[in-house]
Amino acid sequence: MSKKFTVTPWKVEGDIDYNRLIKEFGTEPLTDELLARLRRNAGGELHHFLRRKIFFSHRDLKWLLDEYEKGNKFYLYTGRGPSGNTHIGHLIPWIFTKWLQDRFDAELWFQLTDDEKFLFNEKLTMEETNRMAYENALDIIALGFRQGKTFIFSDLDYSKTLYRQALKVAKKLTVSTAKAVFGFKDSDNVGEVFFTSVQSVPAFLPSVLKGRNVPCLIPYAIDQDAHFRVTRDITPKLGYYKPAAIHCRFLPPLTGPGGKMSASVAETAVYTTDPPETVERKIRKYAFSGGRDTISEHRKKGGNPDVDVSYQWLTFFEENDEKLKKIHDDYVSGALLTGELKQILIDKLTAFLKRHQENREKARKVLDRFVLKD
Ligand code: TYM
Repeated sequence: MSKKFTVTPWKVEGDIDYNRLIKEFGTEPLTDELLARLRRNAGGELHHFLRRKIFFSHRDLKWLLDEYEKGNKFYLYTGRGPSGNTHIGHLIPWIFTKWLQDRFDAELWFQLTDDEKFLFNEKLTMEETNRMAYENALDIIALGFRQGKTFIFSDLDYSKTLYRQALKVAKKLTVSTAKAVFGFKDSDNVGEVFFTSVQSVPAFLPSVLKGRNVPCLIPYAIDQDAHFRVTRDITPKLGYYKPAAIHCRFLPPLTGPGGKMSASVAETAVYTTDPPETVERKIRKYAFSGGRDTISEHRKKGGNPDVDVSYQWLTFFEENDEKLKKIHDDYVSGALLTGELKQILIDKLTAFLKRHQENREKARKVLDRFVLKD
């Protein structure tokens, strides 16, 4: 039976079958063999997002590692559409990107698409999306990316450099391809159709600026893939490599096991700026439970971690495999109650966010050293 779900850059809904997405999008699964190779090149360890197949799919990673092993180092590219506050789902690709930067000594080019959010959101002004870009940049810097190797830019404020390259992409992209890939309708504004050209640019811009072809790896959650299908068609026509990509699953919303956390629905999300009381209240009130209706039934039959959002979140935020396994087994056996499981998550997340918020405030002082403008 095939269940219905939607995964596009602008809408994620339903019970997502990630294996089916691999087939539909034409990506490759991250195999154990490839993970072993990544481990070797990363200095003998794998991030828990890889061990747990939270990053589950890729494009051309094998080629990227072939090049790396020959001494042709890659850079990283990822981004954020600044429509509001950052939520902890957005951090997932970025936490992983930071690990890649450290392990592979790679530059990071980070795009803030304030132009996109202006075009795609009825209500937002350009001033608002531009302001949010720099608020969101604090979350990026707070994760510990390296100064001098990390270049963060707003599309609006780096437009002179970006626009010239975006035009080259746009010239190779037909309206019918944009319609087929993104499902645009004639009633959509022309800026929306053009925008993907801008998101393609950082996938080859460092090659332009350095005057030589440099391999690129783009980590992102699978919703952004449509953009990079277009990019990969066009960069060879401009004389550059196709970017490689590595894709993660979504951190689920608090309210249910399916879909993705959405910044526009406050109850489903925990924001990076939420104080501990808010985090605790949201988890206690909204976190979908895989527990039983009564304590005695739970003790007898146990809970279901596969649908329990608190447990699912811990698979992203509890790095220690043994601790996670014990939580899993205790929940299944009924030894651990839903309220206790929620408390474990609350403790973990509030500790993480306390550190993050401190780093975020410190980031204000160094923001200028990370930002490119022209
Ligand atoms: P945006 O702002 O929607 O999302 C930023 C990044 O977060 C990922 N993401 C998630 N990951 C895990 N769990 C979730 N619940 C979740 N929700 C979002 C997104 O896949 C993305 O990686 N147009 C882009 C900005 C952009 C970009 C890029 C993203 C520009 N260039 C290159 C990735 C790579 C956007 O609006 O992302």
